[in-house]
Amino acid sequence: MASDVILRDLRSKDREDLIRGYLDLYREREAGEPIGILLFTTPPLWEEELKWFESVQRSVASGAKIVVVAEVDGHAVGLCEATRHGPSSPDHESAHVADLGILVQRAHRGHGVGEALLREVLARCRGKFEIVILSVFADNARAKHLYRKLGFRPYGSLPDGLKRGKSYIDSDLMYLDLRSATPEGATRGKSSRKLNRGTPSASAPSPIHGG
Ligand SMILES: CC(C)(COP(=O)(O)OP(=O)(O)OC[C@H]1O[C@@H](n2cnc3c(N)ncnc32)[C@H](O)[C@@H]1OP(=O)(O)O)[C@@H](O)C(=O)NCCC(=O)NCCS
Repeated sequence: MASDVILRDLRSKDREDLIRGYLDLYREREAGEPIGILLFTTPPLWEEELKWFESVQRSVASGAKIVVVAEVDGHAVGLCEATRHGPSSPDHESAHVADLGILVQRAHRGHGVGEALLREVLARCRGKFEIVILSVFADNARAKHLYRKLGFRPYGSLPDGLKRGKSYIDSDLMYLDLRSATPEGATRGKSSRKLNRGTPSASAPSPIHGG
């Protein structure tokens, strides 16, 4: 757990790590753990995830999506993305808004990786998007703490907006207005790991399904 964390662009080589990390969530859900991320009722097939990864790469290449990957010991262990809300075209009246998604693999949670990823993505959003929005399980205390810490504010909640098995969970909605928010880093949090910003690669792709 003493390894450094590198923050960098998505690369094709991340495909396996990120798909595996995502599919692990289904095992966590099966084990009855409170996964704070939206999943399909039935786990998707590997082939479907490959297509999804390719679509993420295309979105990054087209500029509709910003992706930052956290790498530890040569493996992608987390990803944060901001995706243009609504149609992916910048020529649209919602093009200034981005949807946020974040996922850190279980073994790496609670060590500051999520905060570092979020700060980096928000920094990259500045000048490209004006408002960042997200929805979060009402009972996802860790994620909500992180979002509030970085300046996100609640703007509503959809009662029973999420349904997992037979249980309903409220879907809390949060936003960050980048035009008025102080730059991320104003309240830099502690981290038990050394965090490095990786050398930006020639733009690449990434995943994460909602949040
Ligand atoms: C949510 C997630 C991205 C956070 O990443 P992380 O690397 O675990 O988070 P960090 O270690 O950077 O920060 C966690 C913060 O939450 C705090 N925290 C942890 N458990 C908490 C709890 N039960 N209640 C409130 N705060 C909590 C920590 O103290 C820390 O804050 P601090 O640095 O101010 O002390 C990660 O846990 C994850 O991927 N979870 C599963 C997927 C998910 O829920 N995604 C979000 C979808 S909206």
